[in-house]
Amino acid sequence: MDLESHRFISYFLPDQRPELCHSATIEKFPPGTVIFEENEKPDALYLVLDGKIEFSKRGGLGQYQNVAWAEENDFFGEFGVLDGQPRSARAVTCTSATIAKIPRDRLMDILERSPGKVVLQLFHHIIHYLRLTTEQYVNQMVHKHKMMAVGEMANTIIHDLKSPFTGISLANSMLKDLHQDEETQEWCNLIQAQITQMVVMTEEILEFTRGKATLNQKTFNLGESLEKFQRLNFIYWNQHNINFILRCDNIILNGDENKLMRVWQNLVGNAVEALDEQGGQIVLIAAKLGQDALIKISDSGPGIPEAIQSRLFDPFVTYGKRGGTGLGTAIALSIVEAHGGDITFESQAGKGTTFYIRLPLC
Ligand SMILES: Nc1ncnc2c1ncn2[C@@H]1O[C@H](COP(=O)(O)OP(=O)(O)OP(=O)(O)O)[C@@H](O)[C@H]1O
Ligand SMILES: [Mg+2]
Repeated sequence: MDLESHRFISYFLPDQRPELCHSATIEKFPPGTVIFEENEKPDALYLVLDGKIEFSKRGGLGQYQNVAWAEENDFFGEFGVLDGQPRSARAVTCTSATIAKIPRDRLMDILERSPGKVVLQLFHHIIHYLRLTTEQYVNQMVHKHKMMAVGEMANTIIHDLKSPFTGISLANSMLKDLHQDEETQEWCNLIQAQITQMVVMTEEILEFTRGKATLNQKTFNLGESLEKFQRLNFIYWNQHNINFILRCDNIILNGDENKLMRVWQNLVGNAVEALDEQGGQIVLIAAKLGQDALIKISDSGPGIPEAIQSRLFDPFVTYGKRGGTGLGTAIALSIVEAHGGDITFESQAGKGTTFYIRLPLC
């Protein structure tokens, strides 16, 4: 956009606008340019003519946390210009951007000569912006506290479940020793695998709430791993009248097999829950696609509710489930991203849902 039609310029009286535009210098910036640093002395106001700017503050551990964005027709840096205090955040271009810079002393001079109406317009903008950032800050704090609460809960669960898990494991190995026949051995192995899975699951929730996904990476055969996943679940699926179909190319992945198992578990688990008692079909297809493995999980369920589709992967987003924590898809996404992959989905009401998971090949 051109400077003359920018929102900020339109706040001023028509005869003030040319002077304001004249005092501005327009510059193009490549992505990643620091416009100003946190705590820097404010020397200008910035009007975004195109592109996107990100504002971030340094957190307690030294890492930057995003607090807001500005896009075409927005302006920023007005707080520092008005009160002369150091910049409260760092401004960096996310894309290439064109920005007009109005020096502080020129702007103050024009503002001092402006009627109340102009100042009021600016005031409105500042109040609106303050409301938005306060709301964002409150949401972030609520999110952080929820994470901490889930973390504490997971800690307690892990602690309390340790002794019954050990008891079941011991009883299981005694049964294995007592009955050496092939069928009992197979059932006992299944019980042991499920116990291990439960311990891993609770520990992963704990890890997720702490915001880290440490990977124990090894090369493994995806087909064999998916068959194991099928063996672990087939009784549960049968009980829910699920017809599970698995097709997998010969794919070798370098990744954390247990964590990826959680991804299949969460996504297929959601599909089973969505299919409810009447059951239906779930198809898992894994194939090579260029440099990636593409895993497709489709179900013939009711589809993901419209109301949550855009926030599906956010933590604590759940819909229509008693006891749903809304962490399943968020955990799945964090694991896939830690492997350098991504997840997308398509969902149609009454027809079903398909998740597409892309993972880089070895
Ligand atoms: N395949 C699907 N079909 C229909 N709805 C789905 C499907 N997958 C997810 N959903 C919807 O998305 C919501 C969020 O799923 P997510 O796995 O993140 O959390 P949850 O299942 O509610 O709780 P949790 O997995 O933590 O126990 C679900 O509550 C459900 O409404
Ligand atoms: Mg779930």
